[in-house]
Amino acid sequence: MKISAVIFDLDGVIVSTDEFHYQAWKQISDQEKMYFNREINERLRGVSRMESLEIILSHSDKNYSEKDKQLLAQRKNEVYCALLNKLSPNDILPGVINLLLSLKARDIKIAIGSSSKNTPFILEQIGLAFSFNAIADGNSITNSKPDPEVFLLAAEKLGVAPEECVVIEDAQAGIDAAIAAGMKAVGVGTAASCVNAQLTLKDLSNLNIDQLIEVNEIRS
Ligand code: G6P
Ligand code: MG
Repeated sequence: MKISAVIFDLDGVIVSTDEFHYQAWKQISDQEKMYFNREINERLRGVSRMESLEIILSHSDKNYSEKDKQLLAQRKNEVYCALLNKLSPNDILPGVINLLLSLKARDIKIAIGSSSKNTPFILEQIGLAFSFNAIADGNSITNSKPDPEVFLLAAEKLGVAPEECVVIEDAQAGIDAAIAAGMKAVGVGTAASCVNAQLTLKDLSNLNIDQLIEVNEIRS
């Protein structure tokens, strides 16, 4: 199968915002006296804001109304966005720019497939707001990863068949979403130990397009 597009997750693949998510949830958890640590934080990768809150609450005996949960999530997002103000193009992860340029040179389309509603703000902060052929994010989906919706939407926006797309992800939920969408998946960073991915890497510094083409030729 030829490769027509590469769909990038944002947080943890293009830019490392994970620490900001952790700090923001930690601040709210401490204020509310809810139990939260880095191990729980790992389970929030690729998961929407409200589902992340539910995971945190499952480790606590606190009960909140739906309205209070919305307010908690809103408070977390305010702390998180204040931290995002510090982001700059220097925070783009190793290998990303080279890979984007090589894909463009080979006429392979590039898209974002992220659960984050802050995608437009993050892309603007790092100077990549106009770099992608399509953006599918938390603002335009109903079901977050591991549901395939965000990646299928990215493929649809690109006008490309799902089987012609390779996804690059740092989250188990994202790898599962890619596979559920009928796409191949490359796991980077924290997903480097993910068994379901067709290829795993520490970061994107040494990934070349021929490797991506090989990944897409693997039979499911
Ligand atoms: C990404 C991150 C998750 C985060 C989600 C929603 O997928 O990996 O940790 O919960 O986006 O982010 P948002 O910016 O909409 O709160
Ligand atoms: Mg991610």
